[in-house]
Amino acid sequence: MRDDTVRDVMIKVFEKSFFLCTADTSYVLNITDEGWPEHLYYGKRIDEGTDPKETVRALSGKVSHPKGTTINYKKDSLTMLEDTMLEISSMGKGDLRTPFIVLEYADGSVTSDFLFESYSLNDEAVFPKGLAHSVYGDRKGEQLEIVFKEKEKDVWLKLFYTVYEECNVITRWCRVENRSEEVVNIKRIMSTQLDLDRNDYKMITFGGNWAREMEKHETVLTHGLFENSTYSGISSNRCNPFVMLTNVSTGETSGEGYGLNLIYSGNHYEAAEVSGFYKTRFVSGINPIDFAWKLEAKDSFDAPEAVMTFSDKGYRGISFNMHDFVREHIVRSKFKSSPRPLLINSWEAAYFNINESKLLALAGKAADAGMELFVMDDGWFKGRNDDTSSLGDWTVELKKLPNGISGLAEKIHKLGLQFGIWVEPEMVNEDSDLYRAHPEYAMSIPGRENSLGRNQMLLDLTNPEVVEYVKDSMRAVFKDNGVDYVKWDMNRMFSDVYSKVLPADRQRETAHRYVLGLYDIMETLTSEFPDILFEGCASGGNRFDLGILNYMPQIWASDDTDAIMRTHIQEGYSYGYPMSTVTAHVSACPNHQTLRNTPLDTRFNIAAFGLLGYELNLCELGKEELDAIRVQTSLYKAWRDVLQYGDFYRVSKYEWVTVSKDKRRAVAVTWNELMTPNDQYGVLRTAGLDDELIYHVFNIRLRHDLREFGDLVNQVSPIHIKKGSVLHNLLAKFVKLDGELEDYTVTGSVLNNAGVKLKQAYGGTGFNAETRLFQDFASRMYFIEAKDMTVEMALNVR
Ligand code: GLA
Repeated sequence: MRDDTVRDVMIKVFEKSFFLCTADTSYVLNITDEGWPEHLYYGKRIDEGTDPKETVRALSGKVSHPKGTTINYKKDSLTMLEDTMLEISSMGKGDLRTPFIVLEYADGSVTSDFLFESYSLNDEAVFPKGLAHSVYGDRKGEQLEIVFKEKEKDVWLKLFYTVYEECNVITRWCRVENRSEEVVNIKRIMSTQLDLDRNDYKMITFGGNWAREMEKHETVLTHGLFENSTYSGISSNRCNPFVMLTNVSTGETSGEGYGLNLIYSGNHYEAAEVSGFYKTRFVSGINPIDFAWKLEAKDSFDAPEAVMTFSDKGYRGISFNMHDFVREHIVRSKFKSSPRPLLINSWEAAYFNINESKLLALAGKAADAGMELFVMDDGWFKGRNDDTSSLGDWTVELKKLPNGISGLAEKIHKLGLQFGIWVEPEMVNEDSDLYRAHPEYAMSIPGRENSLGRNQMLLDLTNPEVVEYVKDSMRAVFKDNGVDYVKWDMNRMFSDVYSKVLPADRQRETAHRYVLGLYDIMETLTSEFPDILFEGCASGGNRFDLGILNYMPQIWASDDTDAIMRTHIQEGYSYGYPMSTVTAHVSACPNHQTLRNTPLDTRFNIAAFGLLGYELNLCELGKEELDAIRVQTSLYKAWRDVLQYGDFYRVSKYEWVTVSKDKRRAVAVTWNELMTPNDQYGVLRTAGLDDELIYHVFNIRLRHDLREFGDLVNQVSPIHIKKGSVLHNLLAKFVKLDGELEDYTVTGSVLNNAGVKLKQAYGGTGFNAETRLFQDFASRMYFIEAKDMTVEMALNVR
């Protein structure tokens, strides 16, 4: 028996009241006399006091008279569900807000009335079957299960709450059990519902499109329903399932708010509704738009697990909770906390135009430049020369790789590099042997012309035969081929959603069954190949979610490799996901997506804040650039633990800093978008350092190319040099202009609060080695290391 009076118990039960506590938060609910689960509170940790019953009484909603046109739950009851804060809600009993669950019974009615039956504290946590879910570890009793029964039908609803104390996260999911003899149609089922008794919130959502993932949008909620949802079949780049619901005044470092996410990779729905009673309801779950589920007698249905956190420390507090949760309770791979390899990827270097000698030449340069993993991207399999054919045929194109995958891998290994390969297992092109042999494997509607995305069709993962085909075809690629890494791509959204193996009355199950099939495949393959590092991808970040991260510890965040665009994209991800999940590459200039030129060091400085890779043709770079890259890779390796696993702070619009968990090392980056002249002041202010420690802050001196100054060179040259002339280029080869050095030894309190003033930036009035050349798209990386001294020790020395 647990003793609920002990302070460190995370779930405290007082009769039918439940206090779920994390280190800094409390979530309180109570079962009313009528059997409804009333939500009482979610926020900063509160104490139940010496008289928990009295606390619950104080927190419960009060009502003594009917309210206007509101429906009363039943005769002689003053319960008006429309204005009650609820843990679950359904249609038909007076609650007019967006519901948690809608069931259609055999008689055609859609009214449900789930009332409390029992609860338990689970030592062995229960999670949704066949779905990605959080990692409970060796915890005990930190899952609360509450069981409800529909008043008139033998249909049961179980709610599961799991408490992750140290990262201030509580997860929720639910199971519907049809114990009756009749079929029940699930029209809608959410994973979480959060009723709040105020109406002054804003919802922060992250969406965009291809190459523009994770743009941050803030919507102030006033009245009615605001939705962030997709029926694209995947979590999608249009609207990530991670959202924040915060006070209107909440900002980066202060204010209250909730972070909410779903451990799911398919159609998702997050909605906030402000009711006519000035209360706010948030729900999230599978998008009801393209969903219904025929629940047979004696069968059950599991909804995905939702994630909730609260912080009173602004977006930063929410992000930190989410980062810790994702690192500890989502990522399961053996690479979870190990240094991720620095890679070279062949895509932007050669696109489809690859062959063994080309790849080996690239790999040779990569090895020489300090990279650790060579990734052969698209184009290696039978007949694949562009994006119109071959998906589905996972056998090697011998014209390109005469020695097969293993032959290439062997040579790559000899260069001292790991070997990685690209696959897109969920797809088929019409022009493929697979499609010719099995057109029924593709998702399409008989008798209707199929729409295409990137010329390809989805494989129907609702079909168990297709699921087995995908597993086998991938086993053949991964096994005995020397594969150390796999990039698992998925390059189209759903259309023509239909399963040829499901009857008409189950067609709306297709999208969810696809996710179940996908998770089955991913679970099988990632367990069969535990030594392979898997990276998720979907045209960049078209499926960046907690479901994928449960199987694959990192995801290619965007096909947009432009450094300036990446500052926005990576920052967008950082609100909900730790940098150890976000991959980022240095690519060529002009950038292939924007045609923008950015300095090589800026491309590195930004990408280094994610999991770093390079994706450009190293064979075409000159010695100078290769030397610079060699310096970058060695710097990255020296600071990799901080950059990959440190705490990531969004310090200002143009500055990030990441600080090691022990606060002894940190790396900061500042960057510029468009330069304004005569604006030469700069401050490096940090966050998260230990106020008491003394730190050494420094940068690495840049050596500027003379040509950056154009014809200004003539201001110092004794002879006239024509811009762009042979002489100009020759001089540039030999004459480099030293950039500024910054070097300070100060306390963490100075860095965190005052900041150090940087050297004057170039402003059109002169340049020397004391000038910070901070032109368009320039950036600087600063390294910060604790001296083995605290302020106190330093004072004693004196
Ligand atoms: C997608 C990915 C890219 C690349 C190509 C290959 O667009 O996001 O990184 O792998 O596919 O076709």
